[in-house]
Amino acid sequence: MDKHLVIAIDGPSGAGKSSLARRAAARFGIIYVDTGAIYRCVGLAAWRLGIDTKDAEAVAALLPSLDIRMVYSEAGEQRMYLGGEDVSSDIRLPEISICASNVSAHAAVRAFLLEMQRKMAREHSVIMDGRDIGTVVLPDAELKIYLTASAEARAQRRMLELQAKGIDSPFEEVLRDIELRDWQDSHRAEAPLRRADDAVLLDTTDYDFDESFALLCGIIRERFGLAE
Ligand code: DC
Repeated sequence: MDKHLVIAIDGPSGAGKSSLARRAAARFGIIYVDTGAIYRCVGLAAWRLGIDTKDAEAVAALLPSLDIRMVYSEAGEQRMYLGGEDVSSDIRLPEISICASNVSAHAAVRAFLLEMQRKMAREHSVIMDGRDIGTVVLPDAELKIYLTASAEARAQRRMLELQAKGIDSPFEEVLRDIELRDWQDSHRAEAPLRRADDAVLLDTTDYDFDESFALLCGIIRERFGLAE
């Protein structure tokens, strides 16, 4: 790929951002950056130390000691390392989701992780997903997409994902967790989740994965003038 592609995808949890972005990255030969995984590392570190993740000062005090690294395999898979330990699986535990959401509300955490994310987009063609990529991290991204779906559709998908990993959670519980995180992520003072004015809206409530992927690829090809 000769062009430097920078694609920002934002949206609520469970909208399919990561699976769609990962597949699009493979399709267009660029890097997929999952920024939620970085916040999850901070959440996991705090949780392991028994720090109250809602306590801004306590979490801020932890930051200087954190060594968080994103490492990409040949196949483009992102692995997360915390202090040299591969925590890629641990950060996906349901209890870490809410810790990640809690720590992500703190200004100090967002400032700490900002440059790490911008550096990736400067050095590589990327499709980066998160909550504030188009609004704060990469406001000049050539393509911004706001990917969403109804809370029920997202809960249903998340439940199936968890089941595939052998984690059985009732639908109501998954839905409640999604609604709580939606509320937290979009009502926080720091970089709340919102659609950038120039973001293309992609609502996948009524589409399956392949249909959503086809729509996403169409948007990317059109914006960057890429051939089919
Ligand atoms: O995408 P995810 O569910 O893995 O993200 C975990 C949490 O991190 C989510 O609740 C919100 C937060 N987050 C954020 O505030 N900004 C980002 N760019 C990515 C994630």
